[in-house]
Formats: sequence, C-alpha cells, structure tokens
Amino acid sequence: MAKILAAITGVEGYVPDYILTNKELATMVDTSDEWIMERIGIKERRILKEPGKGTSDLGAEVVNKLLQKTSTPPNSIDLLICATVTPDMQFPATANIISDKVGITNAFSFDIAAGCSGFLFALVTASKYIEAGQFNKVIVVGAEKMSSIVDYTDRATCPIFGDGAGAVLLEPVTDGLGIIDSILKVDGAGRVFLHQKAGGSLKPATHETVDAREHFIYQEGQAVFKYAVSHMADISVEMMKKHNISPDDLDWFVPHQANMRIIEAAARRMGIKKEKVMINIQKYGNTTAATLPLCLWEWEPQLHKGDNIILATFGAGFTWGSVYLKWAYDTKK
Ligand code: UT7
Repeated sequence: MAKILAAITGVEGYVPDYILTNKELATMVDTSDEWIMERIGIKERRILKEPGKGTSDLGAEVVNKLLQKTSTPPNSIDLLICATVTPDMQFPATANIISDKVGITNAFSFDIAAGCSGFLFALVTASKYIEAGQFNKVIVVGAEKMSSIVDYTDRATCPIFGDGAGAVLLEPVTDGLGIIDSILKVDGAGRVFLHQKAGGSLKPATHETVDAREHFIYQEGQAVFKYAVSHMADISVEMMKKHNISPDDLDWFVPHQANMRIIEAAARRMGIKKEKVMINIQKYGNTTAATLPLCLWEWEPQLHKGDNIILATFGAGFTWGSVYLKWAYDTKK
C-alpha cells in the first residue's frame, strides 16, 4: 500500500487593517525609516486595534476563510492546532476558543508555544496524526497579536513585530507529495536572550512587574541575531544535503520573517537565488507563528503541484527547524 503523507491542501491568511508605518513609529520612539529598513527590512506592520479582540479573533477569521475556500464543513475537522505566544489567556487554549468561534465541534484542539517556530512544530505534529492514518482533516493555524506584548517605548523591539494569522488544511495523500521530512530542534538555554519576564508561574503579575514593564518582550537582539543566522541556515542546508536537493532542484525557500539580513544570509548559505525566496517582511514584519503560512498564502497562486519547498524557522526558546515538502496542488486560477 502506498505510504500516507500529510499534504497542505489549502492555505489562507488574514491581517488586520491598521497599518503601523515606520513614519508613525518614529513619532513614538527615537528611530527612523532609514534605520529600520537598513537593519531589519520592515516598512510597515499590521496592528489589531479594535478593543476586546485578541489572537483568537485573528485565528477565527483565517480559519473561517480557510473552511470556506476549501469547502470544508467545520464538523469534518478532526484536530485544530494553534501555534501562538500571544494566547487570548493563560488558559484555556486559544485553539479551543478558535474552534468554538468557527463551529468546529467534533474535534480536539490544543496550542503549541514554540515562538517563531510554532507553526512548523504544529505542522509536523499535525502531519503525524495524518501519517498514522488516525485523522483526515487537520487545521494548523499560526496566530499572533504581538502588539499585545510589544513595548512601544523600546525602540530595539517595537519596529520588529506585527499582528496576523495564517492557516493550512492538512489531508492525507498517497501520491508521494506532501510533507516529506522535518528536522526540529530546541535549546532551552537560549531563553535568557528572548523571553517575557513576568506573568507566568515563576513571576506572577504584580503592580511591580507592570511598573517594571516586565510583561513585554525582552530581547537581546544581537545574540538572537547571531544564533538565528547560523541555526536557520545550518538546518536548511542540512535538509538539502539529506535529500540531495541542489539549489536548482529547490523551487521555493520559505524562511521565518524576522530580519531581512537573516533571510538573505540563510539563502546565501543555501545557494538560492532571491527570486526563489518568499519575502513579505517589509509589509507585515515579524508575526511570529504566522510568518510561514502568511508567505504560503501570498505565494499560493505561483505554486505548482510537485514544487520542492523548504520551510525554515528560528525563534524564542531557542527553537528552530526545517521542513521539506512537495506542494500538493495547482491553484485554480
Ligand atoms: O523572531 C524572533 C527572533 N528574533 C530575531 O531574529 C531578531 C534578531 N535580532 C535582530 O534582528 C537585530 O539584532 C535587531 C533588529 C533587534 C537590532 O539590530 P542590530 O543591528 O543588531 O542593532 P544593535 O542592537 O546592535 O544596535 C545598534 C545601535 C544601538 O545604538 P548604539 O549603542 O550603537 O549607539 C542601538 O541603540 O542601534 C540602536 N538602535 C536603533 N537606532 C534607531 C536600536 N534600535 C534602533 C532603532 N532605531 N529602532
């Protein structure tokens, strides 16, 4: 019997309307469009401004669009995994809230918190349920309201992040397409360079933690940059070597969108031309767990059945990884 693999059979993206430009940021902190473009490569990012809305609202928007686009009844979904570091609340899982909002009632769901690698970790986890023959329809959503944990008085972090969500539908295929392989890694020692200081069990919220701005992202940018460049490039090259994929064989490289310089360094190490690299960081910034599906969503019309694609990430944890897949469908024009 032909081996069952999990394939992405639909992808959607959603970003909120409000556009926070570098120009506006320069009225909030001591920065400039020139500095941000040169050091990070971001022109603007989207922000969820409406009061009373959280990550699950972004997730529900994108999952609803995905269900409609793929003509999938909500109650046919077996599992929904949400990758996020900005859950609506500590518990219950944002995945459960999304499922409730979109009418997925016949499934189980859970969150994965793996920083910017969350979508990749969730995608691989989901694929295993399908490969095992247990499930037929699984949704993986990466959704973040990063603006809820960004300190807009800290010029070193506030230009980087944006809000958004992306989602994919995974289904079983037996034609050799779909998710071929994955390499996922963590190094918990990296937590010192990128974390949220308070709000968890180690340091619950108090007036002092709020006054000390400890509920925002803490990042030692240069250290994270160094690790991100080497680890994202290494793991992508490792995947190419493992499957004998030459730069010519690879149709698309989908890197996490954290910094244009990190993306360019990884592509250089892989020997990939820039035309084959999906880059939308200039429009959306770093949407953490949403960057990869937002790229796939934007590039979907250009993808062809059988395309060789490598996705790669690096993020808080530290977490990093790469996935090699063969795209499973031609988009109906
Ligand atoms: O997705 C999660 C993983 N995260 C990442 O991958 C982020 C990795 N790190 C980075 O992308 C970069 O390190 C940053 C974008 C965060 C910072 O860029 P950098 O080139 O590493 O800058 P730096 O931290 O070395 O700072 C250089 C200078 C400093 O000034 P002095 O001390 O040299 O006078 C900063 O204060 O740039 C200053 N600076 C800024 N200047 C204008 C920092 N942020 C800004 C800013 N505008 N927004």
